[in-house]
Amino acid sequence: MSEHPTLRTSEHTSDVLVVGGGIIGLVTAWRAAQRGLATAVVDPEPGGGAAQVAAGMLAAVTELHYGEQTLLGLNVASADRYPAFAAELTDLTGHDLGYRRCGTLAVALDADDRAHLRELHTLQRQSGLESEWLSGRECRRLEPMLAPGVRGGLRVDGDHQIDPRRLAAALLSACELAGVVFHRTWAERLVVERERATGAVTREGVRLGAGQVVLAAGSLSGRLPGVPDDVLPPVRPVKGEVLRLAVPARYAPFLSRTVRAVVRGSHVYLVPRENGELVVGATSEELGWDTTVTAGGVYALLRDAHELVPGITELPLTETRAGLRPGSPDNAPLLGPTELDGLLLATGHYRNGVLLTPVTGDALAHALVTGELPEEARPFTPRRFTAAALTEQPA
Ligand code: GLY
Repeated sequence: MSEHPTLRTSEHTSDVLVVGGGIIGLVTAWRAAQRGLATAVVDPEPGGGAAQVAAGMLAAVTELHYGEQTLLGLNVASADRYPAFAAELTDLTGHDLGYRRCGTLAVALDADDRAHLRELHTLQRQSGLESEWLSGRECRRLEPMLAPGVRGGLRVDGDHQIDPRRLAAALLSACELAGVVFHRTWAERLVVERERATGAVTREGVRLGAGQVVLAAGSLSGRLPGVPDDVLPPVRPVKGEVLRLAVPARYAPFLSRTVRAVVRGSHVYLVPRENGELVVGATSEELGWDTTVTAGGVYALLRDAHELVPGITELPLTETRAGLRPGSPDNAPLLGPTELDGLLLATGHYRNGVLLTPVTGDALAHALVTGELPEEARPFTPRRFTAAALTEQPA
């Protein structure tokens, strides 16, 4: 990193500076600006990031995992907000977000998968969630393109989808309409003065001053120079490769809802958009910052998706892409104030960034205005990872 011994003083000051213009940074900036805070975003390509790759499943119920019941509460709160959130964004910006209340079908291909899905069903019911067990025949009646070998499945009508690329574009427009200022460059380091975050310095050496800084740089959040070590979020990149196929009109409706399964231990999902796009995801690889699309990744996705829906091999393959999920130690996001005055986090959303966008915007705006997280977001304070919290013995 280069040094900037003499910073150019700048007229760029705001109440809030958001570092990172992916969907999480944008929703934070938009909601902050709506609360009357003068807000700026620094990002070379706002609206980019993992949302350009993500499939956009809003899968609070089908992505429930043992040990993640606290996260479930936040996921469900955000899923509940989606209809009003999407309607507000569309009314404001004119962007159609591709929000589709199509539901999800999670299916089992063999006896082990079926046992695993049965357990998930039990956990869902214990958690008060709605899902319905279907036989293989009932699954195929709903989705005739499914493989004949499907042994059963879970129908979850409440797990919807949105097109994350459209969401990013709409949030960008909403920010612009709300007067958010964009600095289209890299934040090179955080500025800390008298033990308080007071802004960031850009790659060009321009200082962007701010009353509060929100670090919302996705998987990059853990490596912004200037952030003290004990505050730096423990976020790591988790690569996901995703394919896009096109469903020609003669095959429509190829699938009428999201279809997913665990094949040989890997998650595979097929998300059908209303515009004929079929998104197939996703690998999950801990390979640092690598975003290469590999033959192996594409092969594994096509092989597993083909096992689920054999007809996909007829479809044109239109895009292959890899992105980086911001993984955190407990798979949950880090939201709100840190131990460093003036610095807040909105990162670590891992597999749930698109789903958690509405609730993150609300939580961060609340924290920026009041200094505290709202009730539903309190378990996700970054302070849970401070040395003191981690060494605390349970009573
Ligand atoms: N939530 C889907 C994924 O991360 O692959």
